[in-house]
Amino acid sequence: MSETRLTIRRPDDWHLHLRDGEMLKSVLPSTSANFRRAIIMPNLVPPVVTSQDAASYRERILAALPAGHDFTPLMTLYLTETTDADDLEQAFRSGLIAGVKLYPAGATTNSQSGVRDFDKVTGVLERMAEIGLPLLVHGEVTSADVDIFDREAVFIETVLDPIRRKFPELKVVMEHITTEEGVAYAKSGGDNLGATITTHHLIINRNDILVGGIKPHFYCLPVAKREKHRLALRAAATSGDATFFLGTDSAPHLDQNKLCECGCAGIFSSLNTMSCLAHVFEEEEALGKLEAFASLNGPAFYGMAPNEATIDLVKGSEKVSYPPSIPTPDGPVTLFNPGYDLLWKVENQL
Ligand code: DOR
Ligand code: ZN
Repeated sequence: MSETRLTIRRPDDWHLHLRDGEMLKSVLPSTSANFRRAIIMPNLVPPVVTSQDAASYRERILAALPAGHDFTPLMTLYLTETTDADDLEQAFRSGLIAGVKLYPAGATTNSQSGVRDFDKVTGVLERMAEIGLPLLVHGEVTSADVDIFDREAVFIETVLDPIRRKFPELKVVMEHITTEEGVAYAKSGGDNLGATITTHHLIINRNDILVGGIKPHFYCLPVAKREKHRLALRAAATSGDATFFLGTDSAPHLDQNKLCECGCAGIFSSLNTMSCLAHVFEEEEALGKLEAFASLNGPAFYGMAPNEATIDLVKGSEKVSYPPSIPTPDGPVTLFNPGYDLLWKVENQL
């Protein structure tokens, strides 16, 4: 029997949706079993806008944590045109928040409160640059006249680059990049520019969504692009370059809200992400770079120490069995299916 073992520091997830209420209780264990920390997205309804909102959301997350799980939620605030810079600063200095999320209005799930007029957030961005609080950017323009497959590249040119020129000291994370333009821009940016890459964007391209029948469980935003972009993302993630780190963007929706006339964007992948990543990194002959991507580059960008604990990834000859979906009181949430057998297992998953 072939068996291969890889020991890496315990990973973190630098972009995660946990939701709230029953959904939070149902999905949190899939993350806390595998990750030590995660950056928690603030796009609840209503969004997490003030430090007060973030503090009480954090309490709800901690209350939902299974016994024995050692997990720290790193909170974020949702940037609006009325965000108070003093409140932000206080939340950052107290250690409550690790970033501020910029959603262009209308870009994705629950982004109605996002920013329409970037001039209105100049004061807040100045303050963030001053105090070293990272801006986490959903990098897609939302104008109806820009094709959905071009929205990331147009955002970089027309929104992100001008912001970075205006605030050269601002730490920015390009969240869930999906294009070769995203990779190239992130690389060119120096120490205060980072980029997260999801597990699923390393595995699927747009054909996987559309060829042979529409696959709602592969639909997310930013939408997966053509194959050359997937290859650029794989090269970036497996390069070891400190610019790139894991943000699963695991985004659970009830199946009934994905399998319908106007299905939600989001792929739930927390449970099997490490197995998928080991598979991808092995295919790229880069298993030695998995620790950098999943466990080292993220903390380094955020100025945090990497985790002390380690996990063992073990490759067996039997496929690892993951449930096709996880249950919630309101119905199932389908788990990301990479389309092939997963042989790598996290041995010490909690
Ligand atoms: O696919 C996505 N789902 N992309 C996002 O940006 C938001 C997320 C969600 O909250 O469901
Ligand atoms: Zn997201």
